[in-house]
Amino acid sequence: MLYPRAKQALDRLSRLLDHPRGTRMPSIAIYGDSGMGKTMIMSRFRDEHPPSFNPLTGTLKTPVLAMEMTSPPGERRFYAELLTLLGAPQRPRADIAQMEQAALRIMEAIGVQVLVIDEVHNILAGTYREQRIVLNTLRFLSNRLQISLVCFGVNEAREAIAAMSNSPDGSNS
Ligand SMILES: Nc1ncnc2c1ncn2[C@@H]1O[C@H](COP(=O)(O)OP(=O)(O)O)[C@@H](O)[C@H]1O
Ligand SMILES: [Mg+2]
Repeated sequence: MLYPRAKQALDRLSRLLDHPRGTRMPSIAIYGDSGMGKTMIMSRFRDEHPPSFNPLTGTLKTPVLAMEMTSPPGERRFYAELLTLLGAPQRPRADIAQMEQAALRIMEAIGVQVLVIDEVHNILAGTYREQRIVLNTLRFLSNRLQISLVCFGVNEAREAIAAMSNSPDGSNS
């Protein structure tokens, strides 16, 4: 990716942080060939919006949370990764509902506004059912926390993921 295009992408991402909380938060998907600078954009975006301490509330605010989609994809793996990133790894036998609750509680507490997911094409390595579940998990987090999603993936994944994300009923295979 050329420098001006990277700058343009970063500006687009930054505008997500100005968007007021609401029921339908905007999300952005960026696809590009491997080596085009997607991960670099993600790191820059995170570094430009680092966690900051709010002395009034005594809490740390983390506007941008960035992670990599697990491979193989799966709801449990996804939440385990997310919780580790949040500094709250779970007991190996925690059930998914508990992991989900912990993730929601912590993300709410630290004021996450944008969840960035790199290597989102890893979703496609799962079965159709697994793909649906992971996409629904992302959608659930976005809706429940009123946060924006930013997904980075390789070009080849664009159509497959767009088709999945747009199909209205995804709850089963
Ligand atoms: N705009 C840029 N300016 C300078 N170096 C860049 C730029 N974009 C990417 N790079 C470099 O190119 C390499 C590949 O970038 P990366 O972000 O890993 O690509 P991708 O995630 O799309 O596969 C990295 O070494 C990165 O530092
Ligand atoms: Mg990358």
